[in-house]
Amino acid sequence: MMLVTGATGNIGRALLTELQACDAGPLRGLTRDPARAAFPEGVEAVAGDLARPASLKSALAGASSLFLVSRLGPDADILEAARQAGVAHVVLVSSITARTHPHLGPARENLAVERLLKDSGMAWTILRPTQFASNTLMWAPAVRAHEVVHAPYADTALPTIHPADIASVARAALTEPGHHGGTYALTGPEPITPRQQIAAIATALGRDVPFTEISRGQAHAQLAPLFGPEAADAVLDVTGGDVNGELLTVRDTVSRVTGTPARTFRQWAVENAGAFR
Ligand SMILES: NC(=O)c1ccc[n+]([C@@H]2O[C@H](COP(=O)([O-])OP(=O)(O)OC[C@H]3O[C@@H](n4cnc5c(N)ncnc54)[C@H](OP(=O)(O)O)[C@@H]3O)[C@@H](O)[C@H]2O)c1
Repeated sequence: MMLVTGATGNIGRALLTELQACDAGPLRGLTRDPARAAFPEGVEAVAGDLARPASLKSALAGASSLFLVSRLGPDADILEAARQAGVAHVVLVSSITARTHPHLGPARENLAVERLLKDSGMAWTILRPTQFASNTLMWAPAVRAHEVVHAPYADTALPTIHPADIASVARAALTEPGHHGGTYALTGPEPITPRQQIAAIATALGRDVPFTEISRGQAHAQLAPLFGPEAADAVLDVTGGDVNGELLTVRDTVSRVTGTPARTFRQWAVENAGAFR
């Protein structure tokens, strides 16, 4: 049995669908609210809160594999609970910033989780994705209201990834041999700027979406109440303020692991246009 955490999220939903399509065996999706989780037919919705590892006991019982999204709880305790439950293999979602920006707080935390997993005695596969296409959902309220979208670093092009591609790599790691001990840096197929992302969303909607670039200070004022000032600075560094060659590099890991080219941002925008209408 496989336990998928973050199961109602961008990666988790796509992963459960893919695992079911390939007959991966019994599947459980973890959520804090099973009544609201609309999982695919046959997936068992289990209650659990990663912030309270003791609440994961019944979700982990009988699990041989675990798909774990990091930094939603005390990861050392979560990994220990998994080990005690008999989990043999963990696929961990870390972040490419563990490689590109190891000095930043969130990246340091991901590196610490990666080390804990490697030392856990369980088999492991580490996924290090770059920024998700789905981060642009933060613009959805303004787009729906026909207001101007504001974003910094309008012309910084990053190889944003479609979350379904992270799911596809996770599915391969969970169901195919050869991925134990793998650390995969994952990007989309091409760099794309915020200005181009807005244009792609506008094309998917069939109408103009007005856009204005804002300064780092203005963006920080918007993000700090949501994430805290330090994390807001980290987000702004890795979206344009302090990018480096490693972060800008397009990698072919998705197509190498899955045999299918990575999905474009334009594809994501078409699939998710409903969220912006
Ligand atoms: N966005 C990026 O650019 C980026 C880049 C690199 C790495 N990441 C990492 O990717 C991971 C997954 O992102 P995503 O976009 O797929 O997720 P998402 O759409 O943001 O959804 C969050 C998921 O986490 C679950 N969750 C949140 N708090 C929880 C808790 N205390 N206990 C149990 N479940 C909890 C939610 O489940 P319920 O609400 O149903 O409980 C939901 O399924 C995150 O951990 C993030 O750190 C993101």
